[in-house]
Amino acid sequence: SMPKFVKIVEVGPRDGLQNEKEIVPTSVKVELIKMLVSSGLPVVEATSFVSPKWVPQLADAKDVMSAIQGFGHCRFPVLTPNLKGFEAAMAVGAKDVAVFAAASESFSRSNLNCSIEDSLARYRDVALAAKNHEVPVRGYISCVVGCPMEGAVPPSKVAYVAEELINMGCAEISLGDTIGVGTPGTVIPMLEAVLDVVPIEKLAVHFHDTYGQALSNILLSLQMGISTVDSSISGLGGCPYAKGATGNMATEDVVYMLNGVGVKTNVDLGKLILAGDYISKYLGRPSGSKAGIALSNA
Ligand code: HMG
Ligand code: MG
Repeated sequence: SMPKFVKIVEVGPRDGLQNEKEIVPTSVKVELIKMLVSSGLPVVEATSFVSPKWVPQLADAKDVMSAIQGFGHCRFPVLTPNLKGFEAAMAVGAKDVAVFAAASESFSRSNLNCSIEDSLARYRDVALAAKNHEVPVRGYISCVVGCPMEGAVPPSKVAYVAEELINMGCAEISLGDTIGVGTPGTVIPMLEAVLDVVPIEKLAVHFHDTYGQALSNILLSLQMGISTVDSSISGLGGCPYAKGATGNMATEDVVYMLNGVGVKTNVDLGKLILAGDYISKYLGRPSGSKAGIALSNA
């Protein structure tokens, strides 16, 4: 059975833009966020408080956060890899944060420059500080079915990291198929393992469409009872450590499917298309959303 309502977590301004080589002006990011909010999205991940040496594109995190204060009834989570990032986020009024671990040791090292255990230790500090600020923490896990360096990732590894994140107080766990290799054949056993340790209402799925499997994987996740889906406007984003990895699941395509099966999202597809047109035009490339291309007037 399908959920009646699906919460879409739009990650385009963060996950979508973080690997763009040319720096996107703050004003363009802010306009994009404004358009995404006006489409009715309940959550728009706005930016990251990470090292600007690691992710130069998001070095303007503070300016983005200041500019979007008061943009409607939307939540704007931000990525915080450590206490330094958490404190910077609090200083500009962030009300939701996210930490990001990996299910593969090699990916943890390339993304965070530390082991999985060391990352979890840092996140315990962040989670404790967040608790004191009454700020909810989302816990991401990347490489939940495959790693660009290690290949197949065992479901037990994902469940282990998920349980650690839940135990430190994460309000939501987002399972990322960072390189988009998953099919229902690998995703179902992974979800079953995680569901043994995380209540279903706290789970979100985050699929990449590298192998064209994202929408199938989302559908099966919904059929298993998951009701939070991450996606990125026009399919923006990829993985810097995965050769040829294409984008995140496109939000327009998710909303099109959910409209078709009668699941509410509160998102106006027409307005979403406008946001996709805006950023695709700015970046000077075609949208990564099939529904976006089909429905666009551009
Ligand atoms: P490090 O170099 O090991 O850390 O980086 P360090 O503590 O030695 O610090 C190095 C420098 O960074 C220092 O500056 C620190 O002050 C500074 P310096 O003294 O050299 O001038 N620094 C910071 N600056 C700003 N904000 C901070 C911060 N922390 C340290 N918070 C670190 C470790 C974790 C900082 C680094 O590896 C990092 O920033 N990593 C972030 C990488 C990232 O953002 N990746 C993308 C997000 S994850 C993802 O995309 C997957 C996901 O989308 C799911 C999916 O798609 O599957 C979630
Ligand atoms: Mg992603």
